[in-house]
Amino acid sequence: MPPALEYSLTLYPEPVLRKRTQPVAAFDEALQATVDAMYELMFKSRGVGLAAPQVGLDQRILVLNDKGDPEQPDLNLTLINPTIVARTGAKTKFEEGCLSFPGIYGEVERPERCTVEAFDVQGNPIRAEYDGFRSRIIQHEFDHLEGILLVDRLSPADKLRNKPALQELVDRYKAAQA
Ligand code: CO
Repeated sequence: MPPALEYSLTLYPEPVLRKRTQPVAAFDEALQATVDAMYELMFKSRGVGLAAPQVGLDQRILVLNDKGDPEQPDLNLTLINPTIVARTGAKTKFEEGCLSFPGIYGEVERPERCTVEAFDVQGNPIRAEYDGFRSRIIQHEFDHLEGILLVDRLSPADKLRNKPALQELVDRYKAAQA
């Protein structure tokens, strides 16, 4: 058994959040431990999705649970090295938040459905179409793997409304660096 990992959340504007992440090369015990620790932190933080850069890792890993409920592990979905091969359906607006942007929310427009090719944590290929809330979570977390963040998707009005909270995150980051 590898030692249990414990991660903490990477907050904006940590540079790792802006990286286009690298593919996972080995489907081994270390990957399983990483995924387990990501679920643990996601549930602890009351999130419904988490991408590897949000725990400081430059890797193409995302996890989600539509209800954010550790008691419903059947809702867990782990996608390793995902690609979104199609986005279809009407564009819908929905309020999103992000664990890397505490206190910041805004409506984001995304297509209703997405078709994903990925691998599970054991390296088995996955190809599936997702819709509804799950599709939205996947598209949000997939953005993270490309270095694209919630603030990039906000309307100008929401950007303006969230400006003080965003500035506070930047100030906190700078203070921690100093
Ligand atoms: Co996010």
